[in-house]
Amino acid sequence: MRPLLPREVDGYLVELVKAQHADQVLTEMESRADELRFPIVGRAVGRFLELQARAIGARRVVELGSGYGYSAYWFARAVGEDGEVVCTDADPANARLAENYLRRAGLWAPVRYLVGDALAGLAEVDGELDVVYCDIDKDGYPGAWAAAAERLRVGGLFLCDNVLWDGRVAGLAPEGEPAEVAASRASVTDAIVAMSREIASDPRYVSSVVPIRDGVLVALRVA
Ligand SMILES: C[S@@+](CC[C@H](N)C(=O)[O-])C[C@H]1O[C@@H](n2cnc3c(N)ncnc32)[C@H](O)[C@@H]1O
Repeated sequence: MRPLLPREVDGYLVELVKAQHADQVLTEMESRADELRFPIVGRAVGRFLELQARAIGARRVVELGSGYGYSAYWFARAVGEDGEVVCTDADPANARLAENYLRRAGLWAPVRYLVGDALAGLAEVDGELDVVYCDIDKDGYPGAWAAAAERLRVGGLFLCDNVLWDGRVAGLAPEGEPAEVAASRASVTDAIVAMSREIASDPRYVSSVVPIRDGVLVALRVA
């Protein structure tokens, strides 16, 4: 994906995080994403997610769309062994890969991986949550927000990736994108914008979008 920030700036942010934290397993997870073009959040956003979770003392995190555990890696660091990171993903192969990577990284203890629809997984988890992190197929974003907004404690965070969608949310056409691809993505763009506007006008939440990589929405529940 083409970063919204100039490549050099994006690269600088990633290098800063690499200087703080090195792990062979993490590097392997990143190589897999490069080789298979699998859309992980990457270092700068991963560290940011960890920071957000640590900042509110999060103990209970639910991820909607976990892939093979790259974003969960950062949440597991934040909540510690006694915390809880519930991963969800439709693909059982991702669950197996996540367990393998996260065990090797010493981060599997707080993780529970539910295979199936992400919102069905969220419904299976009882009680109030500290963080819901959303990274499912983008047409599902409004539904994810509707399901998550009530589940977070006051002081909890809704975090959502790809909310700038390569600039499409602001009417920018990504470089070289064929017209038919742009047209097929219009409804997805609409879904991301609809969710973001709904969150921005929700009096229970204070929110902002941080424009690292493809944009991360942060919404803090205040009422
Ligand atoms: C962008 S990837 C997640 C990457 C992961 N958050 C990371 O950064 O490492 C999206 C994942 O969500 C899964 N997915 C998409 N929509 C889903 C849904 N509605 N229910 C369950 N899984 C879904 C896909 O199988 C895919 O693995």
